[in-house]
This record gives sequence, C-alpha cells and structure tokens, in this order.
Amino acid sequence: MKLVAGNSNSSLAHKIAKYLNMDLTNCTVKRFADEEIYVEINENVRGDDVYIIQSTSYPTNDHLMELLIITDALRRASARRITAVMPYFGYARQDRKPAPRAPISAKLVANLTTRAGVDRVLTMDLHAAQIQGFFDIPTDNLQAAPVMVRDIKKQFNGNKIMVVSPDVGGVVRARSLAKRIDAPLAIVDKRREKAGVSEVMNIIGDVAGYDCIMVDDIVDSGGTLCNAADAMLAAGAKSVTAYISHGVLSGGAVSRIVNSNLKNLVITDSISANEAVLTAENIRIISIDELFGEAIRRTSNEQSVSDLFNHF
Ligand code: R5P
Repeated sequence: MKLVAGNSNSSLAHKIAKYLNMDLTNCTVKRFADEEIYVEINENVRGDDVYIIQSTSYPTNDHLMELLIITDALRRASARRITAVMPYFGYARQDRKPAPRAPISAKLVANLTTRAGVDRVLTMDLHAAQIQGFFDIPTDNLQAAPVMVRDIKKQFNGNKIMVVSPDVGGVVRARSLAKRIDAPLAIVDKRREKAGVSEVMNIIGDVAGYDCIMVDDIVDSGGTLCNAADAMLAAGAKSVTAYISHGVLSGGAVSRIVNSNLKNLVITDSISANEAVLTAENIRIISIDELFGEAIRRTSNEQSVSDLFNHF
C-alpha cells in the first residue's frame, strides 16, 4: 500500500499516514512558472495499491487538476489500483440542472476522475447521497457522524440536547445523528412568503430550554447557520452549536461566525484550515484522520468498510 498526498490537505494526509504507521510516498507536485502543474512520483509504485489523499477544496480547480495529473502519473508508473481519497468532494453542489442549459458539474468531475484512471473513490458526506451513483467505479461515502457523536458525548455530557436541521433539505442527515445520540429533532423551515419580502424562519419543534446542535454537510458563507442560530435563540434555545462536515468558509464567513450568536462551530479537517479559521475563538476542528485511516486500511485488506462504524 502507498499513500500519496496532493497539496490540498497535507496536514490530514500526514495524520492519516501516522495512523497507518507509514510514510507518505515521496513525490513532487509543483507548478511551472506559467502555473502548469508538474508531478513526479519519486518511488517505485509498480503493482502497488495507491491512495491519493486530495480534497478538491479551494482553489478547487487547481486541486482537481493535481488529482488528475497525480492519477495519470501513477497509472503510467503501473500502480495496480488507484483510490482517490477525497474527504471533501468539490463541485458537489452542482448535482442537478437548476436551469435550462446549465451543466451538471458534479457528474463531469466524476467522469474526469474516472477517465484519468482512478479505480475507486473514498469520500465523506457528499452533499447529495446520489452523487455516489455519478461514479461508475466503487465509491464509499463515509460519514463524519461517528466522529461528531464522540465529540458531542464529551462536550454535552448530561445536557438537555436537541438536534436541529438548519433547512428542510438536511433533515435526513440530522435525523440520523439525532438517532445516534437518542436526542429529539427540530427543523428550521425557511420561507419567503412573497418575492422581495425577507425570509421568515419557522422552527418546527420546541427548542426552548435546549442546548441545540445544528448539523449540516457544508458551511460556506455561514449565512444559513447564523440566521438559523438567531431564530433558535429567539425561540428560547439555551445555546446553539453547529457540527458541520466540511468547513468551506469562503469570503467573510469566519468573521460572520465569530460575530454571530453561535456558541461554537465544530468542523472536521476535511478541508485544510487557514489562519483565520485556526484562530477564530468559536471555531473548533475535529479530525477525521482515524476514520479515513481505518477506511484505507480496510479497503487495502479487502475488509468491510461499513463495519468501520462499529469501530467508533
Ligand atoms: C445547502 O444545501 C448546504 O447543505 C448548506 O446548508 C449550504 O451550503 C450552506 O451554505 P452557507 O453557509 O453559504 O449558507
């Protein structure tokens, strides 16, 4: 087995390697002066089972291209099997045609990855579960939930907690987490009654007196979370914390979160955190190193990956 890291999330790649008690494969992934990407694998990989650890996070197109070029280098170097380990799969939000003559970019990225020579994919909390079917190769969609549950049990031990979905689209995810921790569920229902009139937030469920835990796949601008937190506090919630799989956090998201009424935003390290995220006082990062390390170990040993969840 070999682990190769692109430039998107080297700290997670090192942690995964540490969990697996092995070194990352020596390879060069650099830019020419005109920004073309150049890759060289500096070790023999002939006949190896190779895992490329690369989230297609910001700058998405560069990281995607790195993944494709690393795959090509490995294929030409006769790797036996190539797995793209994409803890965060960028372009996932473009999973359908929202308008006539619009692309389905998530499908295109799945096609590109496969055509480059990837044999299987390991990812986590895809924005829509059906994206798994965009790949015609084996694709495991891991869940951050067991890692979150472990943290929630530590942080909220004995508190009266309620799981909240910040929008109607996230109910399945929130319900599954609520079931794992045996907590009740509430839903934030956003409605714009008339065009041009600001959105009204209705909370389905009684959050009064509860420490509320919002769950979602992505925090990008932070708008969804901050607005939902305000609505919950107005409805009598004791505190609001959010557990989110992927901290995209673009634009002014970090300062929006820091200045919000969220007690804490807990994200995983599927996307490498920048300095602003690392120093934000109400943002905390939990690691998915063990989750991915164990999934890679099991895949390599041809063992069940779904059994992995009993491991936590
Ligand atoms: C939407 O369907 C996603 O699940 C997230 O709720 C959304 O991407 C969050 O975006 P933002 O942080 O920009 O409100």
